[in-house]
Amino acid sequence: MEPKTFYIRTYGCQMNELDTEVMAGILAKRGLAQTEEENKADLLIFNTCSIRDLAERKVMGKLGQLGRQTKRKRIIGVTGCMANAKKESLFQKLPHVDFVLGTNNIHDLDTVLDEVLHTGEQRVRTDEDFYEELDYVAAKRQDPYKAYVSIIRGCDKYCTYCVVPYTRGKEVSRVQKSILEEVKDLVQKGYREITLLGQNVNSYGKDQPQWGALFHDLLYELDKIEGLTRVRFLTSHPVDITRNLMEAIRDLPSLCEHVHFPLQAGSSRVLRKMHRIYTKEEYFEKIALLREIVPNVALGTDMIVGFPTETEEEFCETYEAMCEIRYDNAFLYTYSPRKGTPAKRWADDVPEEVKNDRHQRLLALHTQISVEKMQEKIGEKVEVLVERRNKDARYLKGLTRCWRNVIFVGDDSLIGTIQTVKLHGHSHHTFLGNLL
Ligand code: SAH
Ligand code: SF4
Ligand code: F3S
Repeated sequence: MEPKTFYIRTYGCQMNELDTEVMAGILAKRGLAQTEEENKADLLIFNTCSIRDLAERKVMGKLGQLGRQTKRKRIIGVTGCMANAKKESLFQKLPHVDFVLGTNNIHDLDTVLDEVLHTGEQRVRTDEDFYEELDYVAAKRQDPYKAYVSIIRGCDKYCTYCVVPYTRGKEVSRVQKSILEEVKDLVQKGYREITLLGQNVNSYGKDQPQWGALFHDLLYELDKIEGLTRVRFLTSHPVDITRNLMEAIRDLPSLCEHVHFPLQAGSSRVLRKMHRIYTKEEYFEKIALLREIVPNVALGTDMIVGFPTETEEEFCETYEAMCEIRYDNAFLYTYSPRKGTPAKRWADDVPEEVKNDRHQRLLALHTQISVEKMQEKIGEKVEVLVERRNKDARYLKGLTRCWRNVIFVGDDSLIGTIQTVKLHGHSHHTFLGNLL
């Protein structure tokens, strides 16, 4: 029987969040209504992540639990990176799952659902690479003012610890015309901020040399769109952060002064073993150049501690890099061996307690730095996109260009507009401000 309602739970990164919105769009077109209540849905989709072992364990736990429920029969689908990583083997552990649909097969959702409904049999589709243009315009967006726009899918960098090149396939850039049309449509619908998405957005166009357009060229085209107030991008590989891109951040009014610039490790030996294709010195030179060209740039990073063979001295190089660069945001992880990656073949030789201790030390350092960085900003006037009322209804909540939340007193009529706010304090990671 055709399902009437669906529920989607998303794990992992922004790429998955956007894929969820696209799937919700496909299902809405089919006539299904979305529900936030898992128990009421006829179709359940789990859009999964494989990046670390914990991410997989969370979903496997949840799916296992569903199998033990003996209530009415519902259709259960597993999508996302774990679908590509595990393929049909998922059915062995989870016989109650009806379909497995990989990251490169989202456009097949309708067909696969039809097949499951007509045959009552399990289905799996997990293509290695991405080719289809998705119906992004029909995506059911979660946010009324900020939207994700996919510009490149997949990853060709093959860092030795990472599953993404295997779960999302090789890099495929999206044609510029299609991106510009989508962004124009979003602006018309009232969106104020666009985040360009890809595992390596700044590799954009490199797989299509005949286009003669690279990432910064796309940014210049986007900036011409009338009414588009803000553009961000996530995420970048240091190797592809060019002077042209830095100058675009300086020169384009729409482009926010915030760059996620993932270091991963502070030792050149570890970076080589990670296949990050830059040395510590090259990375530091790029940061210095970026800060010279865009002095007020906010910086983010990802770091992994406890990579195979990492010594205490090498960890200290990561710690010192954090001290020296003083990132505004940092996502810090302990190394997790992933099946199918080159690093999985090496002994996971940093003991768990050592990994955790390094993680704690780095986290404590970053917490201190981020507090100091926030205090330095007190007194500044900043541009804020007013998003909604805060949980505490007295305040409005907005987002700065450098990706910080601000709360301030103001009228509902400001929601969806760009305002200037003077920062007068902060509580944890949120600024307190006064509307000017
Ligand atoms: N393409 C992005 C990030 C993708 S995954 C980039 O290159 O920066 C997000 C982060 O997860 C990575 O930056 C890395 O820090 C972390 N990560 C990836 N694989 C991991 C693993 N096996 N163990 C621990 N952290 C990992
Ligand atoms: Fe993973 Fe490296 Fe690709 Fe980022 S660049 S997705 S860390 S392989
Ligand atoms: Fe996870 Fe896949 Fe994103 S592994 S982090 S959902 S690309």
